[in-house]
Amino acid sequence: MFKMFPNFWTPVLPVAEIGSDPIAVKLAGESLVLFRSSFGQFAAFIDRCPHRGAPLSHGQVIENGCLECPYHGWQFASNGACTHVPFNSLKAAQLSKLSVVSFPVRVIAGMVWIFTGTENVPEPQLPSSLLESNDRYVIHHEIWNAHWTRAIDISLDYLHIPFVHRDSFGHEFHDPTHRNATAQINVTATADGMAIMNRLDTLPYGVEIDWHQPNQVVLKLDLGGMPLRPHLFAIPINPQQLRFVQVVLPSPGIDRSNFDFDDFFAASQDDRTMTESQVGEIPNMNEGCNVPTDEPSLRFCRWYYSVMKNKEAEGIQDTSVI
Ligand code: FES
Ligand SMILES: [Fe+2]
Repeated sequence: MFKMFPNFWTPVLPVAEIGSDPIAVKLAGESLVLFRSSFGQFAAFIDRCPHRGAPLSHGQVIENGCLECPYHGWQFASNGACTHVPFNSLKAAQLSKLSVVSFPVRVIAGMVWIFTGTENVPEPQLPSSLLESNDRYVIHHEIWNAHWTRAIDISLDYLHIPFVHRDSFGHEFHDPTHRNATAQINVTATADGMAIMNRLDTLPYGVEIDWHQPNQVVLKLDLGGMPLRPHLFAIPINPQQLRFVQVVLPSPGIDRSNFDFDDFFAASQDDRTMTESQVGEIPNMNEGCNVPTDEPSLRFCRWYYSVMKNKEAEGIQDTSVI
C-alpha cells in the first residue's frame, strides 16, 4: 500500500470540507474514504468494502457513528472494525475477521492528516508553527498535474522567482541594481530536512525556507516587518498528480481583515504552470548540469533517491513475495 509514499504522516484535506457524508480521496495511488462520525471523530479507510468491494464512499454515516456500506449494509466503526452484518447473527469472533483496512488519523492545523501505513505508527513530528488551534489557519488547496517532487523542488528554490514570477513579485529582481548580483544560498541540515538562507548581495534582506521531510516547505516571509509563515504541502495523488496545499498562520498585523489571502495563494499559479510543464518525478541530478546555488535541490534529490526510491523498491519486493 502507498508504494510511492509509504509510512509518512501527511495532511489530506481541510477539516472544514469534511461534512456528514463520506468523501472519496486519492492518496499516493490508493483510493480512500474519509468521514467524520456523528461523534465528530475522523476516520480513513481503504475505499473498498471487505465483503464484495463496493466503494464505502458511496455509503452513509449512520447515527451510531459507523460507516454503512451501500451494498449490503455492513457497518464499520471508525477504527475499521465491522460492528454489524444485517440478517446474520454473528459472534464477536466472526465479526472481528471482517474489518476494513483503516489508517491512523489526526487533526492538525485545520487539516485531516493520515499516516500512510498501519504498523509502527509514530506520532507526527511537526514544526511548532503547526500547533496553534485548528481554526487559526487559512487554507487553500488545488490539484496540479505534476509529480509531487516537482512542487517541493520549486518551493525550495529561491532563484526561480525572477523568472517564473517575472510578471508579479519577481519583477523587482529585474531592477538594474541586481544586474550583477550574486546569490548566497546557505543550507543547514536539520533533524528532519534542511534550513535554507537565501540572499542576494544587492538586497538588504534574505528569505529563509525550511524543508521538513517528506513533503512540507515553510516559507519564512517578512512583510513590512510582520512575519508570515506559509506552510506548503505537496501531497501525492498518483504519479501524475499532486494536491498543492497552502496553510497560512495569520500573525499579529496580518489577518483576514487586512490581508488578501486569495491574492497571496494565487501567486502559486506561476509555479503550477512551471511544474505542469515538467515531465515525471525530479530526475536524479547527482550527475549533470548543476551550479553552487542548486544545493537545496540537490539535497532534496539525494534524499528522494536514497530514501524514497529505496522504500518504493522494498515495497515492490514485498509485493512480489506475496
Ligand atoms: S459489499 Fe459491502 S456489505 Fe456487501
Ligand atoms: Fe514560486
